[in-house]
Amino acid sequence: MKQLTFKDKVIIITGSSKGIGKVTAQEFCKKGAIVVLNGRDPISLQKTVDELTSKGYKVIGISGDVTDVKDCENLIQTCINLYGKLDILINNASLTMNGRLIDMVPSIFSRIFLSNSLGTIIPTQLAIPHIQKTKGSIIFISSLAGMHGLPRSSAYSAGKIVLTSFWQSLKIELKDSGIHFGIIYLSFTKNDENKKMIASDGSLTKVPHRPAFLQQSQQSIAFSIIKMIKSRRSKKVLSPLGKLTAVIARHFPRTSLFLIANTSSNGLKTQ
Ligand SMILES: NC(=O)c1ccc[n+]([C@@H]2O[C@H](COP(=O)([O-])OP(=O)(O)OC[C@H]3O[C@@H](n4cnc5c(N)ncnc54)[C@H](OP(=O)(O)O)[C@@H]3O)[C@@H](O)[C@H]2O)c1
Repeated sequence: MKQLTFKDKVIIITGSSKGIGKVTAQEFCKKGAIVVLNGRDPISLQKTVDELTSKGYKVIGISGDVTDVKDCENLIQTCINLYGKLDILINNASLTMNGRLIDMVPSIFSRIFLSNSLGTIIPTQLAIPHIQKTKGSIIFISSLAGMHGLPRSSAYSAGKIVLTSFWQSLKIELKDSGIHFGIIYLSFTKNDENKKMIASDGSLTKVPHRPAFLQQSQQSIAFSIIKMIKSRRSKKVLSPLGKLTAVIARHFPRTSLFLIANTSSNGLKTQ
């Protein structure tokens, strides 16, 4: 069987102006891909475009909000107009949070929930006709919170859990389309130093401390995404912690509630 190479493959990675998306873009570029970068803030997006272009990589930036239909139409259509095709869509854009539902401004809940749910659904729907032609891949970046709801992360967890059922629906509905649909559940990952989460009132707050030994590098996440696309595997849970969470959440739901409540310092115990 012919081995899949990424040379001149056209890839859109949503939310790739920083973090995991940016590192993943760079790894695909090293393999000769053309990557369309995206994020809401045009200034940080342009900085990333300049940085990767200066290394000789083929990237462009299209700013836009993945929860906005018009922005997504612009993202996909600009890519098609420029390159004539789309091989891979990686749904990575996301907002994260740290706050209790009871304290949360409803519009902030919506923003976080939608960035994770609808922000994946809209680009996917618009990309499908194009990726059907190239028989490429659509990847959903999920999380431990997409396997089991986490305290102080209700909007994020609810948004990520949507991805599992959406991926399942598409795998069945479009099984003869030739499109590879992959979902990947990430565990704790080393963040950009300046990464912030959203607090209940909408202000930005620091990411809580996580033990270093539990954190995977952004580059190892990028390698796992690349491997998943090469093998056309449909589901992957990363890290020992992620695998353990998956087993306990599935087979021992009461134990998983107990464990999460007792290991989240600001979680259920405080309520
Ligand atoms: N880091 C972890 O420990 C971890 C663990 C599990 C899963 N994950 C998942 O991995 C993915 C990447 O996480 P990360 O840590 O790299 O995040 P990050 O550093 O906060 O980067 C998020 C990216 O998404 C963009 N973005 C946010 N909302 C957007 C929207 N509505 N429309 C378009 N772009 C948007 C941001 O740019 P703008 O702000 O300019 O829009 C940025 O480029 C996410 O799906 C996350 O849920 C991460």
